[in-house]
Amino acid sequence: MLKGFLHGNPIQTDALISAVPTQSIEEFPFAYTFENGCFRFWFELAPEDIVYGLGESPRGINKRGWIYESYCTDDPFHTETKRSLYAAHNFIVVSGKKSFGLFIDFPARIRWDLGYTSENRAEITVEGEDFAVYLMDEEQPREIIRTFRAAIGKSYLPPKWAFGYQQSRWSYHNAEAVDNVIRGYDEAGIPLDCVYLDIDYMDAYKDFTVNENAFPHFAAYVQDKRAQGIHLIPIIDAGVKKETGYSVYDEGEEKGYFCKKADGSDFEAGVWPGMCAFPDFLNPEVRRWFGEKYQVLLDMGIDGFWNDMNEPALFYSAEGVQNALDKAASLRGENLDLGKFFNLKDTFMGLSNAQSDYASIYHTVDGEQVNHQRVHNLYGAGMTRAAGEYFEKTAGSGKILMFSRASYIGAHRSAGIWFGDNQSWWSHILLNLKMLPAANMAGFLYCGADLGGFGDNATRDLVLRFLALGVFTPLMRNHSALGTRDQECYRFERTEDFRDVIQVRYRLIPYLYDVFVKAREQDDLIFRPLSLDYPDDPIARECETQLMLGEECMIAPVYEQNVSGRAVYLPEDMTFVRLSGERVTAEPLQKGLHYVSVALNEVPLFIKKGKQIPLCRPAMRTRDLNWKELTYIG
Ligand code: GLC
Repeated sequence: MLKGFLHGNPIQTDALISAVPTQSIEEFPFAYTFENGCFRFWFELAPEDIVYGLGESPRGINKRGWIYESYCTDDPFHTETKRSLYAAHNFIVVSGKKSFGLFIDFPARIRWDLGYTSENRAEITVEGEDFAVYLMDEEQPREIIRTFRAAIGKSYLPPKWAFGYQQSRWSYHNAEAVDNVIRGYDEAGIPLDCVYLDIDYMDAYKDFTVNENAFPHFAAYVQDKRAQGIHLIPIIDAGVKKETGYSVYDEGEEKGYFCKKADGSDFEAGVWPGMCAFPDFLNPEVRRWFGEKYQVLLDMGIDGFWNDMNEPALFYSAEGVQNALDKAASLRGENLDLGKFFNLKDTFMGLSNAQSDYASIYHTVDGEQVNHQRVHNLYGAGMTRAAGEYFEKTAGSGKILMFSRASYIGAHRSAGIWFGDNQSWWSHILLNLKMLPAANMAGFLYCGADLGGFGDNATRDLVLRFLALGVFTPLMRNHSALGTRDQECYRFERTEDFRDVIQVRYRLIPYLYDVFVKAREQDDLIFRPLSLDYPDDPIARECETQLMLGEECMIAPVYEQNVSGRAVYLPEDMTFVRLSGERVTAEPLQKGLHYVSVALNEVPLFIKKGKQIPLCRPAMRTRDLNWKELTYIG
């Protein structure tokens, strides 16, 4: 059962698909106060309670013992000291002595102190007074999640080919670079379905343009790649370059579609193209307009996109830079003491994504000016809705690949997400794993991390181990940052190991697609914490390094360097399957703790006793998979 509690006059977020009758906040069953313009409530946590959720966020599957903030943040250093990542998914499930789900429909900052200040107390601060809170009251966490998911509507459905392996890099600067990637994979016999076009495919980083010098005859080129079975996936950024004569800017300007400042002039900030204006994605008319802009690339044969920098990420504002320069100038010739030095340093370091810049942005919501800080977490979601709703209307569901960096619940109906700029760190394999069930709970089924890690230099073994987890994530994309070591599989020694791992993905696609579609239809999870399936098993309840997948499987990737296996806990008898290319070995193991060895070219999988899963023959492209000729393992 879902109960809603309303206070004030909340901004419409469209997170829920239909209105749920709401009661006054006075009926809210937890202790609360209104203080300093914030709503704060709290409840006790029993020692055995687990808190799941918060979607894409730092730290564990069990979120206890930390403070999290719902505030879409462009921050590539996902260390455990952080409180926010790129998304704001305000849904948690408490399970243990009591079980309930909680969704706060509020698009500004929320602070979730989940046993940080006081171990057995959750204290949640909503930074505003206009909000709705929903409580889900069911016995089992999985039921709670289903109730919630039914209320927020069906998740985005990607095309089938989006389950193929995808290669990205910032950037493949021209057609030749893209061709080299395809050739590298083909020659190594490693399957591939998509190659990504990062910002450099554009003309001067202008959305919906193509640099014709780098990609001459782009439409013909796209068609040529399609004939090879390769989909090119261009990036679209939130900021629109400020340039008279650039039609997207001119139109937006003329129609008043950009975000404003208090004085009514356009808000501007620097991103990749230099000074940009920012479409006001809170406005449905602007969403329609921006959505239609994708058509220019669709017309060229493009059928997939990734939306980026939509928290929105702001490198600097003219005001911020001026202020920093003034400060520096005022200190010229002074012998800086520590306080002044650090203040100066912080001023420059704080130029990007500055709170003062966010606070100077205004949106038009239902004809009224609304400060950005009140709706911050809806911005990227609005951009993604703009695209997703346009694709749904023109191409229909399951046709266009679309995923976003920033998101809010509701955008899961329009697109998937990727988990932003991670690093080539071993710890980020586990962070990736831990986010999967939480993202699913928030409705985001099509998701995944940058495999191999975005920032920093990857090693061969890291990429292989990362991929062995990515084999199971709906989005299986290897992506890395400018200036980092080449990370395409064929760049490493002994490419056959990479082929072995990625072929396993292709063999599993009929199964993984089926799990995906069922989870979507049944408002369910693809990935579940073990504790959801084995609530009375104390070891399963605390497991942070393994996940249940579908009704049949458990996954337990290797996540450390220089090890040839890992400890794994089996909550029931299972078959341990090692998959490597076309080779399959199976070993029955009994419930309990085991150490399993897993070579770098193997994908470990555990299948429940009595269950079987299908495998098809591998192929170089998803279009060549034979979904009918299946063998079963288990
Ligand atoms: C952002 C994105 C990253 C992309 C880069 C350049 O950092 O998160 O994926 O490669 O911008 O566009």
